[in-house]
Amino acid sequence: MTTLTTSIPVQRIAKSRIKEVDFNNLEFGKYIADHMVVADFKDGKWHEPAIFPYGDMLMSPAMLSLHYGQAVFEGMKAFFMNDGNINIFRPQKHHARFNRSLDRMCMPQISEEAFIQSLRALIELDKDWIPTSEGSSFYIRPFMFAYEARLGVKVADHFKFIIINSPVAAYQAKPYRLKVEDTYVRTAEGGTGFAKCAGNYGGAFYPTQIAREEGFDQILWTDHKEHKYIDEVGMMNVMFVINGKLVTPKLTTAILDGITRDTILTLAKDMGVTVEERKVSIDEIEAGLKDGSVTEAFGTGTAAVVAPIAVIKIKGNDLIIPEAGPDSFQLRVKKKLNDIRMGVEPDKHGWNYII
Ligand code: COI
Repeated sequence: MTTLTTSIPVQRIAKSRIKEVDFNNLEFGKYIADHMVVADFKDGKWHEPAIFPYGDMLMSPAMLSLHYGQAVFEGMKAFFMNDGNINIFRPQKHHARFNRSLDRMCMPQISEEAFIQSLRALIELDKDWIPTSEGSSFYIRPFMFAYEARLGVKVADHFKFIIINSPVAAYQAKPYRLKVEDTYVRTAEGGTGFAKCAGNYGGAFYPTQIAREEGFDQILWTDHKEHKYIDEVGMMNVMFVINGKLVTPKLTTAILDGITRDTILTLAKDMGVTVEERKVSIDEIEAGLKDGSVTEAFGTGTAAVVAPIAVIKIKGNDLIIPEAGPDSFQLRVKKKLNDIRMGVEPDKHGWNYII
């Protein structure tokens, strides 16, 4: 593991591309900031990270990650707080999950110090790219992939760790219409569902495309054995308000341990809301939507924070979830989270990493 003892070397971009950015129209992930962190793992150890201009890289067509899928990423956010400081939200928690994903994919761990110092250096350098409009953020994408060129099926010996950043607008999508998936699975228990590895996303494209062709926005993923219990929604964790309680599927090896999930569950407890992490069946949601005990349904993730669900089609019927008003749990918790990140509310859980 790398221990950073010196500051990170920086090769600055000759001319910033920031003038090309339309900050009033930030399509998610369209613009990548000027610089990137790159570190190499080879000869059995990490070599010191360095910052380079963001740009294309030379890679072999035989690079192992392209063939056998050793590729893991994180998604996190930084913001300008109201006092003008820059806040990276819960980087230690993202780092810990990154290492759990890497472990599952037989990839080398990275130290918290290297991870966070690299982030700090990069974000400070590209701070002009952090958008300032309401709800916007700097989306941070740390990732690692097998870089070794060889066709033999093996755990790679050479990896690259990279961080790139993208200014993104507040999430605004119409509330989802969901298909309950009863044919395909995102993952299975014992699989890689809890890891943020590239294959989990690639494997979801085909069923999601089918769902879209059928007029849905996203999939409500169910367990691989019986398609009876709910796992996730699209690329997010899923939550319901049932009889005033916040209910979400209990984590298994098939479910991503979402940082936003954890944040919202913690804030719910702070708000005096009872939280239940347990199995949630499609039958329970069907009955609850019919008798009115399910009053809210939403996805949670770093990119969207909270994504409302409008309709779930169950056994041929469109079951409608009432529109989330200003008093809904999801909008109140979203505001509370935003207030903590902006420094309006005290950060009593120590989530803000201020640089
Ligand atoms: C998230 O919201 O946390 C995600 O992982 C979505 C990302 C793949 C864009």
